[in-house]
Amino acid sequence: MQIGIDQLAFYTPKTYLDLVDLAHARHQEPDKYRIGIGQSQQAVIPVTQDAVTLAANAAVKIVNATNRDQIAMVLFGTESGIDNSKSAAVYLQRLLHLPGNIRTIELKQACYGATAGVQFAHDYVRLHPDKQVLVIGADIARYGLNTPGEVTQGGGAVAMTISAEPRLLNLDNETAFKSEDIMDFWRPLYRTEALVDGRFSENVYIDFFKAVWQNYQQQTDRTIADFTAFAFHLPFTKMGLKALRAILPEANEMQQKQLMANFEASRVYNRQVGNLYTGSLYLSLRSLFDNAALKPGQRIGLFSYGSGAEGEFFSGTISDQFDAQASRQWFTDFFDGRQQLTMAQYEQVFSQKLPDHDVLLDLSHDDARFVLSGIKHDQRQYVDRGH
Ligand code: HMG
Repeated sequence: MQIGIDQLAFYTPKTYLDLVDLAHARHQEPDKYRIGIGQSQQAVIPVTQDAVTLAANAAVKIVNATNRDQIAMVLFGTESGIDNSKSAAVYLQRLLHLPGNIRTIELKQACYGATAGVQFAHDYVRLHPDKQVLVIGADIARYGLNTPGEVTQGGGAVAMTISAEPRLLNLDNETAFKSEDIMDFWRPLYRTEALVDGRFSENVYIDFFKAVWQNYQQQTDRTIADFTAFAFHLPFTKMGLKALRAILPEANEMQQKQLMANFEASRVYNRQVGNLYTGSLYLSLRSLFDNAALKPGQRIGLFSYGSGAEGEFFSGTISDQFDAQASRQWFTDFFDGRQQLTMAQYEQVFSQKLPDHDVLLDLSHDDARFVLSGIKHDQRQYVDRGH
């Protein structure tokens, strides 16, 4: 029996910042951002969207009458949680009209949380093949105005269903992982922006990748020749390129060309959205599915990295039922219909914060189906506009 990713949907708001504008405002060469960082645009998230609404707007595309009653768990990976006690997943249960006999759990380990969800879901579906698990990665990446990390901001959500006989990716059972207590990136409870040791975080990312890649090869006897493509956690797309380059000499010249071409396919969407923390690897996987010429049976390697730190290398093969046409069209239409913000508009949206008292938010600039309309008695008020 094959188990893996059956559906993979994405949501981010339409508003974005062009990074050439950011480069001019911060007195940097645009090529530093476009080539040195590998980003072109970044999603700007309005105050009327949070991890819950981003997730609901993504998940509503893949939860419907055909699978709603099969969903046994919601595993919600996020580091942008809205409550220290209650999980974001339980809000999603209500917003998506999921059944009552369901587990709803939030998972946190920086950008790794959604991968924990995928792996737990894989194990669960193996024991319960008639069930599905909804896995979420939803975040808002914030470093602050005028910081080195600013160019790597972004946000959004991915929603995946993990099932038996999946239509996208059959997950392999072998996986290699590693944890170590490291201060490369963190966000204390009292801060809305992350703290980061930028260069150090890049080095730890590469060290973790090399360690788990080696461990995976020892476990499986597979080598780079067994892979058609790799998808990476992409905090900014140059990071994935650096990781790929670290192992590329293991491949012959023809394979190197194919891996590089497929890496380009895997970063098309992330380049335009920015970092979305937990969802980033899976947006890259979606980008690879939609923009590379993949064939059933081909093997993809996935590297998940969450600062602090946890890394995992795992793999899967393209399903016989694989078809990316509808998703490709959705992304084309989405990017064509986005609204570019000026620097002043971006700084205004970025600086708007939720107060810690009752408030009614202006929803006129947010056309999403699920929105945060305000706070009442210390409770976030969510609205489903149902269109
Ligand atoms: P910086 O100091 O602005 O940039 O910080 P830089 O001076 O190091 O330059 C960046 C690159 O641009 C360099 O290339 C330059 O040479 C190049 P590299 O040496 O890296 O190959 N460059 C140019 N290229 C072309 N034309 C030019 C030009 N000028 C310069 N004219 C940094 C960059 C990424 C450190 C910063 O943005 C940052 O701190 N970002 C946030 C941290 C981050 O994303 N870390 C990644 C690994 S950790 C991770 O992935 C986990 C994370 O997602 C969080 C989580 O797990 O929750 C972050």
